[in-house]
Amino acid sequence: MAENVVYIDQLKNHVGQEVTLKGWLYNSRASGKIQFLIVRDGTGRCQCIVEKGKVPEDVFDQFKHLGQESSLSVTGTVRADERSLGGHELAVTGARPLSPAEGYPITPKQHGVDFLMKHRHLHLRSQRQWCIGRVRHTVIDAIRRYFNDNKFILIDTPIFTTIVGEDQTSLFEVDYFGRPLHLTQTGQLYLESAAMAYGRVYCFGPTFRAEKSKTRRHLTEFWMVEPEVAFIDLDGLLELGEGLVSSVATRVLEDNRNELEVLGADIPALERIKPPFYRLTYTEAVEILKGPRAAEFLAKELEDLKNRKQQIEGRISELQKQEAGQIKQWKRDKIAAELIDLNGELDEVNTQIENNPKHAQLAAEFRWGKDLGGSDETIISQMHDKPVFVTHYPREAKAFYMRTDRGNEQVVENFDLLAPAGFGEIIGGSVREDDHDRLLARIEDQGLNPKTYDWYLDLRKYGSAPHGGFGLGVERTVAWITAEKHIRQCIPFPRMMDKVYI
Ligand code: 4AD
Repeated sequence: MAENVVYIDQLKNHVGQEVTLKGWLYNSRASGKIQFLIVRDGTGRCQCIVEKGKVPEDVFDQFKHLGQESSLSVTGTVRADERSLGGHELAVTGARPLSPAEGYPITPKQHGVDFLMKHRHLHLRSQRQWCIGRVRHTVIDAIRRYFNDNKFILIDTPIFTTIVGEDQTSLFEVDYFGRPLHLTQTGQLYLESAAMAYGRVYCFGPTFRAEKSKTRRHLTEFWMVEPEVAFIDLDGLLELGEGLVSSVATRVLEDNRNELEVLGADIPALERIKPPFYRLTYTEAVEILKGPRAAEFLAKELEDLKNRKQQIEGRISELQKQEAGQIKQWKRDKIAAELIDLNGELDEVNTQIENNPKHAQLAAEFRWGKDLGGSDETIISQMHDKPVFVTHYPREAKAFYMRTDRGNEQVVENFDLLAPAGFGEIIGGSVREDDHDRLLARIEDQGLNPKTYDWYLDLRKYGSAPHGGFGLGVERTVAWITAEKHIRQCIPFPRMMDKVYI
């Protein structure tokens, strides 16, 4: 009889039937005459129960020695069982290793980040990574759907660019047959020309920034989606931004609730992501930073951190006492794994305790005119339970293309969107300067070569129109939604300033 090969996520449709799974051995343990195999097939994981006597003797013995990540084919009857992983299990009737693996380097125990990143080609199979990858997929799909459903036209902007899109200090220069070009920092300027052709457009692609930042929020190669709209004002852009972010959060909650639970994401907080988001001007944000609210908030945070430190230290010493006694190996492994987690958390809490007074000082001494720094954004975003738009930044702190506010020439009509819970900026955008002479003056002021901007300036000569747009960073959005601390985990093969692993 032909095999009835099914995917694990389809087992619900095959209860009582004999099916075959093709996948990899995630984990196995034996208990006398029964072996419990956890098999993963890319769509999920399933416990497969091999009972001595119900499968040929040689099959039973073979599985005793099969290594983690061996590929295999397992046939058996599907049983629904609420307590089982994924709600179903397989009572195995036959199985066949396809390619046995030995000594798989990533074991169910914990490993350090460096080790995992050097084994990223294998790490992608691990449970957390698998969950993050699936959320990333949904985020990208939801973004495309939002723009496509709202009649935006996709424009693929170039990766080799001739002009500086953001700032000169973070350009990756490439030798293009003897001519220097740069890798794109943004598709925006090209997209502005397309907006004048199609009205509502977006681009979605890899973006490169040679930023010398080793923070958890910076990659040198990241993915950005950028919409650009003709005849839109700042309020319209904010509505577009909150519509997009809310629809992404809703889709992830619909499609990836399981993954969010495994990842320990804050599901109730994601359920609150609905328009309207908070709106602050930069000047109001500065007042908050310098005022008593931020100081009180930070003092309370410091107290909470110290309490958490005490709790962690207490739990560590409790586990160490247990470890010193006579305990079974499985318990020892469990304690070792928990200790790695706790020590990691302790390091982080210590860093936060160390940084808290520095951040408080930076906030208290903040001078109007500077761009908001990472710690300032963190404070503002921690103080809100929904995303916050910060608008109207000082002109001198921002890019040349942002439209000067005609009512207050000190500021531009721009915004950043800060994700809540301390995550920080996920979107940057603005209305664009649509006046030819003002734009030329800004290009000159910033020491950029106006000649290279000839075509960009043309857009202000031939039917200039109010327009604007924004860029949303995919990895930062995924990190925020999944509550992943470092964005390097939110792209399959990360590129960071100091590290490119494989
Ligand atoms: O604020 P940014 O620099 O905006 C622009 O590039 C505009 N040209 C977009 C536009 O108006 N069309 O970047 C936009 C977003 C940030 O909010 C952040 O999410 C992400 O891109 N981003 C990064 N993500 C990871 N690593 C980096 N080094 C990033 N730099 C920016």
